[in-house]
Amino acid sequence: MSRRLSERRLIVASHNAGKVREIAELIAPFRIEAIPAASLGLDEPDETETTFKGNALLKAHAAAKAGAMPALADDSGLCVDALKGEPGVYSARWAGPAKDFNLAMRLVHERMLAIPGAPETARFVCVLALAWPDGHAEAFEGEVSGRIIWPPRGERGFGYDPIFVADGHHLTFGEMEPEAKHAISHRARAFAKLIEACFERS
Ligand code: IMP
Repeated sequence: MSRRLSERRLIVASHNAGKVREIAELIAPFRIEAIPAASLGLDEPDETETTFKGNALLKAHAAAKAGAMPALADDSGLCVDALKGEPGVYSARWAGPAKDFNLAMRLVHERMLAIPGAPETARFVCVLALAWPDGHAEAFEGEVSGRIIWPPRGERGFGYDPIFVADGHHLTFGEMEPEAKHAISHRARAFAKLIEACFERS
């Protein structure tokens, strides 16, 4: 049985503006105040784990302890089949210190081009971890399957959104309205599990 969140506010343990925005949009229908970690001056811990779940828990525990309230962290990434699941947990790092996702998307494209007959298939994966200051935590995973396209399309979203088309769709995540992305995204799917398990129905 998962622990339910009785508190009316939580820290969003991310310094990624795109993620913070999407999590805030997902939480908005609930009467829970989402406080960005940056607004509390919390540091971002190094992501030293090798799995999405490990890194999500690490970030949630660090923020819950430092901020003395429940914290929600997201670890996510793009897993490309032809690249044996890369960039995966290293999705943010492929953008380099300048966080240049045009560079990261080009790297994905070039690596795929170098593999004759590479399949276009890929998936976005997200693990959301909710941790409490007493050390308890819950984690939930969501994913969405699709394919990589080139050249990138769309100005919305963030990260690798302009090169990802979900199965059954023709617009990239970068072209979709936020509501359309939330209807199918890896993050929204993980969030649906979190709500079911941990949020009080009001
Ligand atoms: P991390 O979870 O902080 O390691 O960063 C995950 C990285 O994966 C982000 O910086 C994005 O580049 C990428 N990513 C995760 N979710 C999405 C998404 O919904 N759209 C596009 N890129 C994403």
